Amino acid sequence: MKRIGVLTSGGDAPGMNAAIRAVVRMALSRGWDVTGIRHGFGGLLNGDVRPLGSRDVGEIMQRGGTMLGSARSPEYDAPDARERALDRLRTERIQALIVIGGNGSQAGAHALSCMGFPVVGIPSTIDNDVYGSDMTIGVDTALNVALEAIDRLKTTASSHRRAFLIEVMGRESGYLALMAAVAGGAEAVVLPERKTDPEDVALQIREAWERGKAHALIVVAQGAMYNAAKLTEYFDQHRERMGFDLRSTTLGYVQRGSDPTYADRMLATRFGAAAVDCVAEGHCGVLVGLKGASLSTTELSEVATHRKTLDSEMLALAEVLAT
Ligand code: F6P
Repeated sequence: MKRIGVLTSGGDAPGMNAAIRAVVRMALSRGWDVTGIRHGFGGLLNGDVRPLGSRDVGEIMQRGGTMLGSARSPEYDAPDARERALDRLRTERIQALIVIGGNGSQAGAHALSCMGFPVVGIPSTIDNDVYGSDMTIGVDTALNVALEAIDRLKTTASSHRRAFLIEVMGRESGYLALMAAVAGGAEAVVLPERKTDPEDVALQIREAWERGKAHALIVVAQGAMYNAAKLTEYFDQHRERMGFDLRSTTLGYVQRGSDPTYADRMLATRFGAAAVDCVAEGHCGVLVGLKGASLSTTELSEVATHRKTLDSEMLALAEVLAT
């Protein structure tokens, strides 16, 4: 009999529950016990744990958020925290740990793995910025929420011949903003990975006005040097340069809180099952992921030391299609 632990950490992402469900039921099917750890690594340090049976994970896969709770857990950065986490895992007789979360969470998973503890990571963040997987849990849902908002804003923007700034999440990653801009047909996109001159944005919008467009949409990532608030301030002083009258909407956490789409439930389910398979095979210290249509694994050491880069071809496409 084996006992595994599972935790969700970092920003919640729609689909985390489906991953927990898959982990629990796949582990139970092997005759293992599962311990759920509440509120991420902080919960592990505090011993905030509960056994998870099959019924405990019923009726959760269609819900956003995470039944285990999540946290950023700065206490896990304390010098003795990793040792205390290991002690707690031993006390709870947990023999392997599955960590569902984004970059910070996988760095935490890597730290435990470096101390010889068997850990498998599942990439989960709406930002899609975890190295080692083409796609992370929550992205599809967050993008669909953004697109729904964009479509609605376009309707009212066209009625009034206005420009709209829409700020989407992503402190360090412009993935959501870029994809929302392409799939939402935006006239301009502003990303954290690129330096932005607000004058260039104004020019793009002015040109859209001169081409006779009924509206102009600027998708801005939260972490861009000029976020929606700064761009609004700038354009308030230079409104005549844009042609359009301007309004601004910040989507924020609305994107994270939705119930998961089909794509996210399936991805999370596949990742959860694959993570348990990895533990069974003794293939630990890895992140499960998706490469193309296939499941893959990447060493946590590689995940912790690499960053995904911006898809410059997609950015070029966004610019051409904006005409
Ligand atoms: O989980 C990723 C993310 O939603 C980013 O898009 C955003 O910048 C950040 O988390 C917000 O973090 P917090 O939940 O700590 O405010």
